[in-house]
Amino acid sequence: MPRKKNKKDLADLTKLRLLVEHHNKLYHQMDAPEISDAEYDTLKRKLEELEGPSIDMFSPVNAVGAKPSREFAKIRHAIPMLSLNNAFSDEDVVDFVERVRKFLLLPETEKLEILAEPKIDGLSCSLRYEKGILVQAATRGDGEEGEDVTLNVKTIKSVPQHLPKGAPDVLEVRGEIYITREDFEKLNKSQMAAEEKIFANPRNAAAGSLRQLDPRITASRALRFFGYALGEVSVQIATTQEGIRRKLSHWGFDVPKPETLVDNPEKLLKFHTKVYEERPTIAYDLDGVVYKVNGLDYQRRLSFVSRSPRWAIAHKFPAEQAETILRKITIQVGRTGTLTPVAELEPINVGGVMVSRATLHNEDEMQRKDIREGDYVIIQRAGDVIPQVVKTLPDKRKKGSKPFVFPDRCPECGSRAVREEGAVAKRCTGGLVCPAQVVEHFKHFSSRTAFDIEGFGDKIIQELWDEKMIKTPADIFRLKKHAGTLVEREGWGELSVKNLLDAIEARRTISLERFIYALGIRQVGQATAKKLALHFSSLDNLLTEIKKCGDPEGEAFQGLLNIEDIGPSVAEDAVKFFNEPHNLQVIKDLKSELTIKDFERTKTKASPMTGKTVVFTGKLIRMGREEAKAQAETLGVTVASSVSKNTDYVIAGEDAGSKLKKATELGIKILSEDEWIELAGN
Ligand code: IVH
Repeated sequence: MPRKKNKKDLADLTKLRLLVEHHNKLYHQMDAPEISDAEYDTLKRKLEELEGPSIDMFSPVNAVGAKPSREFAKIRHAIPMLSLNNAFSDEDVVDFVERVRKFLLLPETEKLEILAEPKIDGLSCSLRYEKGILVQAATRGDGEEGEDVTLNVKTIKSVPQHLPKGAPDVLEVRGEIYITREDFEKLNKSQMAAEEKIFANPRNAAAGSLRQLDPRITASRALRFFGYALGEVSVQIATTQEGIRRKLSHWGFDVPKPETLVDNPEKLLKFHTKVYEERPTIAYDLDGVVYKVNGLDYQRRLSFVSRSPRWAIAHKFPAEQAETILRKITIQVGRTGTLTPVAELEPINVGGVMVSRATLHNEDEMQRKDIREGDYVIIQRAGDVIPQVVKTLPDKRKKGSKPFVFPDRCPECGSRAVREEGAVAKRCTGGLVCPAQVVEHFKHFSSRTAFDIEGFGDKIIQELWDEKMIKTPADIFRLKKHAGTLVEREGWGELSVKNLLDAIEARRTISLERFIYALGIRQVGQATAKKLALHFSSLDNLLTEIKKCGDPEGEAFQGLLNIEDIGPSVAEDAVKFFNEPHNLQVIKDLKSELTIKDFERTKTKASPMTGKTVVFTGKLIRMGREEAKAQAETLGVTVASSVSKNTDYVIAGEDAGSKLKKATELGIKILSEDEWIELAGN
């Protein structure tokens, strides 16, 4: 017989109920728990005991029951999740096939099979099966590290939980999570009825539904999955891409349809047109088709460059257009001072996305198109790119409209805006006195692809800048000392301050390539930052070596130019940046706050050649020059384009000329192609 509750019991019960309710709310509604899972469990158990068997409907014990994971744990992908290069025109597709053939040194008589299938507009996910059981699911994240969404993915019906006998012990299936247009409409209707967030398009809806802390919410959303590639596998399951599709399908996965296997670019283009025409009748969003070299042996040889495979390409569908009114033209100042005209539009739905702003590129473009405030304009968006104004409709123009006069002062700081010789854009001359440049710089610095500081968004940056709490990037890592002031801010509180400071702390250690990218050097995007990191290995080495690059004819600068894809203009911008005392001060300051990890070569296979610098010269017979270079890079070998005393080996093919001569003069070890292949462990 349960004991009757006395007065004290009731008081304790009420207190405990309130406490559990409080933590439930922090946890479920605000995504901002204050106590650990274990502490929460203890509290809840205590409450259950006190409630006894006569729990009433108001008890928080009955509320939002089973606890979801508090936040998504990070998962490092066994094999990075790559993205795809894009083809926008027929020529791009022909070039792709040509490039592949050249890389593989295929004679004209040899056919190259390519598989084509639709490109699903969802979000990619990697599913890991061990001994036939789904054990893990991870989002793509930055390609190297994603979020653990296992519990959520387990609620998706088209994801097999078990694989039939015969599946490898370890199998990672990569594919796309998506929602059909019909389910998307339904979801938005019910969201509207519940006064919840409305999703802009099916892809956002799929992403928002997958990234739910409570898997039961994911379960209530009609997510689906298509498998199209593999990650880690313990044994090869096929020798072709088509074979992978067949196996996946046999094991219960949906695969993108229709597909075709062809051997020339014309047939790829025909397939593209066919899918484009069928698109309106397909139940989910497609944003193009993907072409993949069919033979896995070829895929392995082609490998990848930067973040994309050489063996595949996405052929995007043409952009979607719509007509609307351009209300106003504003001028935005970027982090490098560039003035960009922006069209503020009457909001309009373009292919499922609401668009209210579009770029007008620059002064010349605007003049060429004669775009004016109040005009009717055609806008277009293609994939993830910023919407653009294609043209204006002068026939619909109101009388008295005047051409737009581009300002010659920066709208943010009033400094003169000038156009350097040969440049297309006007640039503000205010430098760091221009708040837009500093604030934009901070935004870039903390953005997802740079320092990735969660919760340190545009609004907070602007506010902290206005209040002079952050003047230089290193100040972000000293915000701790302002914790007291921050807590007092309106709408903040201990918890949000703690979350922000924790997010900052979590980024005190950073990879060299992210660090370089975050500095916001002109023309240095992610791929270039990575190449610089690979070349210099550590920040200290970079700083010492780049000082020697002052002379464009000198060896050090030439060494920089030797890096694949770094031309003189990019090299010059990088050298200028690292020789500017102001920037060096910023870096020094950051160094005192951060741990900057030396560059980690991805997936290098250990070999006696790791860490060496080689130069290829002459004609290689057994593999193409590009393939030889790519293979060297996966072994952690730096491939330079000219011979210097820093060269370890010169690999001399047929008819090698001046480089071979120079190597002989410098006493550098010379290898034949066969010797190189032997040493490289092939
Ligand atoms: S193959 C190495 N096939 O498009 C990457 N990707 O824009 C192999 N995607 O990251 C990807 N449909 O998330 C492939 N049929 C398809 C696809 C597809 C959609 C996504 C994928 C990729 C992104 C690149």
